[in-house]
Amino acid sequence: MGSTERPAPLRLGSVAPNFTADTTAGRIDFHEFIGDGWVVLFSHPEDYTPVCTTELGAFAKLEPEFTKRGVKLIGLSANTVESHGGWIKDINEISGSQLRFPIIGDKDRQIALSYDMLDHQDATNVDSKGIAFTIRSVFIIDPKKTIRTILSYPASTGRNTAEVLRIVDSLQTGDKHRITTPINWIPGDDVIVHPSIKNAEAEKLFPKMQIVKPYLRFTPLPKDETSAAV
Ligand code: BEZ
Repeated sequence: MGSTERPAPLRLGSVAPNFTADTTAGRIDFHEFIGDGWVVLFSHPEDYTPVCTTELGAFAKLEPEFTKRGVKLIGLSANTVESHGGWIKDINEISGSQLRFPIIGDKDRQIALSYDMLDHQDATNVDSKGIAFTIRSVFIIDPKKTIRTILSYPASTGRNTAEVLRIVDSLQTGDKHRITTPINWIPGDDVIVHPSIKNAEAEKLFPKMQIVKPYLRFTPLPKDETSAAV
C-alpha cells in the first residue's frame, strides 16, 4: 500500500477489508484469521501509553468470555511487533493477566488508514512527529466478515470492555431469536420483539409477549437462551 489517501469510509454492513500483517502471533491474513467465527478488532494510538496499557490488560482479563462466545480478539497499535512484545510484558505485570491474543504491528498506519482509524479532526491528537494518532476504534465483525458495530473513542478516553461484550451478546442473541435489545440491556433482561414480526406470529414465538405500544413489544428471554449462557 503506502498511500495516504482516505479510502471510502466503512459502514455497518461493509465487508471488513482484508489485509496481511505481522502480529505478535506471527503473520496473518485477516480473513483467514476471522475464519467462520466472530472477531473484535480494536486499535490503540501508541505502545507504552497509559490508557492503552489499562485497556489491553482489561481485554486480556475478559478474553475467556469472548472465547466462550466464539469471538477472537485482535489489537492494533501503530508500532512494530518487537515494540509490542516488550509492552506486553509490562501489561501482564501491571494487570496480573496473560495477554494471549495477537496485536498487529502497524507502524506505517496503513491498516489504520484502510479502516478509517486515523484521527483527522483533532489536530492536537498527533504523535511527536505530528502524524495523526490512530483513534480508539472497535470493529465487531461477524462470521460472514460483515462489520456489525463500529465504535470510536478519543485517545483520552479508555473503552469499556464489558460494553464491547454486551454488544456481542446483543448481536448474537438477536441473530438467533429475532429480537432487539433495549437501552442498558444485559443478558437476562427483557428484550424487544423484532418490529418485522407481525403480532400473530410474535404471539406464537413469544407467548409471554407484552404489548406496551403497537411498536414496542417486550418479551422475557432468560439468560440461558442468550449468547451469555455459555
Ligand atoms: C494513552 O494511551 O494514554 C494515550 C495515547 C495517545 C494519546 C493520549 C493518551
